[in-house]
Amino acid sequence: MHLFRWLPLGLILMAGTATAQLQQYRPNPQAGREMALHTCDACHIVAAGQLAPLVPGYGPSFADIANRPTASFASLQAFLTTYHPRSNMPYPTLSSAQASDLASFILSLRGRR
Ligand code: HEC
Repeated sequence: MHLFRWLPLGLILMAGTATAQLQQYRPNPQAGREMALHTCDACHIVAAGQLAPLVPGYGPSFADIANRPTASFASLQAFLTTYHPRSNMPYPTLSSAQASDLASFILSLRGRR
């Protein structure tokens, strides 16, 4: 069967893909900022200079969240990728890469108010 001649090549390609997926994703705060300005700004002050959120005083500003002593990349990433039944915030359907971008953007606001 000549099909089996291609088997080693297939296995090599599959191994290559798996290795690429195992590589650590490098969060991109700029991409997180762009996304936040479109999807989170209805309830949060995302960045300085932004118009007031549609729902004033609803969600904490991202700078305030970043300045909480408990805020960390892991805690923000976890909040954004898990469902919270009792939260007033709708569950955003985000890929883990998007959640990483957003978490890194929020933390980049640390020190600002
Ligand atoms: C419909 C309004 C709404 C939208 C849209 C929204 N949020 Fe929120 N968010 C809230 C509210 C309200 C809270 C305050 C916590 C609560 O009530 O559960 C909150 C809290 C948070 C917190 C703090 C969680 C904590 O540990 O206390 C983070 C981080 C956050 N939001 C990120 C985001 C991001 C990122 C987006 C966009 C993808 C987003 N939010 C979109 C309403 C919203």
